[in-house]
Amino acid sequence: MNVSVVGSGYVGTTLAACLADLGHDVTAVDIDEETVERLNAGETTIHEPGLDPMVSAYAGSSLKATTDHAAVADTDLTFLAVGTPAREDGSIDPSGLLAAAEDVGEAVADKDGYHLVVVKSTVLPDVIDEEVIPTLEDASGKTDGDDLGVAVNPEFLREGSAVDDFMNPDKIVIGTDGDGRALDRLAELYQPLISDWDVPSVETGRREAAMIKYANNTFLAAKVSLINDLGNICKELGVDTYEVAEAIGMDDRIGEKFLNSGVGWGGSCFPKDTAAIKSAAEDADYDPAMVEAAIEVNDVQPQRLLGLMDEHVDVDGKRVAVLGLAFKPGTDDIRGSRAKPVIEGLQDRGGNVVAYDPLAVEKMAEEFPDIEYADSAAEALDGAHAAAAVTDWPAFAELNEEFDAMAEKVVVDGRRIISRREGLTYEGLTW
Ligand code: UDX
Repeated sequence: MNVSVVGSGYVGTTLAACLADLGHDVTAVDIDEETVERLNAGETTIHEPGLDPMVSAYAGSSLKATTDHAAVADTDLTFLAVGTPAREDGSIDPSGLLAAAEDVGEAVADKDGYHLVVVKSTVLPDVIDEEVIPTLEDASGKTDGDDLGVAVNPEFLREGSAVDDFMNPDKIVIGTDGDGRALDRLAELYQPLISDWDVPSVETGRREAAMIKYANNTFLAAKVSLINDLGNICKELGVDTYEVAEAIGMDDRIGEKFLNSGVGWGGSCFPKDTAAIKSAAEDADYDPAMVEAAIEVNDVQPQRLLGLMDEHVDVDGKRVAVLGLAFKPGTDDIRGSRAKPVIEGLQDRGGNVVAYDPLAVEKMAEEFPDIEYADSAAEALDGAHAAAAVTDWPAFAELNEEFDAMAEKVVVDGRRIISRREGLTYEGLTW
């Protein structure tokens, strides 16, 4: 098929490259000239395993990039994969998505007949019905359900395994207004995944599809928060949460994944999506008790970590190491990272923070220019009176004699990643 993808960020670039790999002709559209130039040169600005080789293989042939939205008129369907960042109050800011919808609408205004627009961006049902669809209709002069089709097809990929997740999804969710044309085109697009690789597809309404994305992420975030809440109770009772989690994960109804207890969740999705769903619930005069609790527990975890450190060291005026800054290993992304409240808490206590991360130092230095950054975990630990492990980078599990250089060998582990050894005062956050 001939597909256009508007927005060449994280999701859009992965989508464009993977669709090219499935055999489609893809046009990526972005307003940023540098992004477009780099894509056409076969490069990306994103760290994602497997993505660069695909982009370089298809650039100039089945994957082309442009800043000109007019290109979408010649394609069979257009994905909107533009970011929807959070506002201060937690609600989402759809302005970028609406600007893209307007450009796409204008581009297809003169197209004869039907054009299908597929919303990939994460947005609440009302934003689709009350903002995206009217914007598309106004700009194109077309009518939803008549010569304009609008479908919702959320993305569930994780950072660090985006290509793999796209190619091996648990499910493909397709939300339509029941129009067979939209369903047929999306079924044809995903045919290699659905028919050849047996991926289940969920055909549902547009509002339901939009909500599935939020519910999916909220459920996962709440699962981690629940094991963290239980973990805090376990810690108080002298119980190892990980032994408890291993056993409860054997219950099929619970499942073993997402039971790693620790300093909490971050990233570009969980904080934004839980805040958006909370805000939507409140707008509807509903008090979302569980969602609020999930967010609250996540805010508590870094404070619990700091509290455990306080039990052993007064960090005022002392060097303290923070190991890990990325929101999870394998990325340089620090959005929502639990390292931020940990650093702030240490600064409030008068600690001299020295931080290390294999990838995320540069990004954290933009937000926290006043702390010291080390080139290695060993350098961060050297002379430190305490250390906090915040990201579970596998290399941290290998640390051993590096702890000998600490002034006081106190380690609070927020991710169960540090190997316990003699001479180390080791505190697990929930074990
Ligand atoms: C997530 C969803 O998994 C994905 O489906 C959605 O499309 C985007 O959001 P991602 O943000 O890449 O993906 O991260 P993920 O690997 O899910 O981890 C999220 C956070 O939860 C990380 O901070 C991680 O450290 C934390 N986490 C995860 C835990 O603390 N414990 C766990 O058991 C699992």
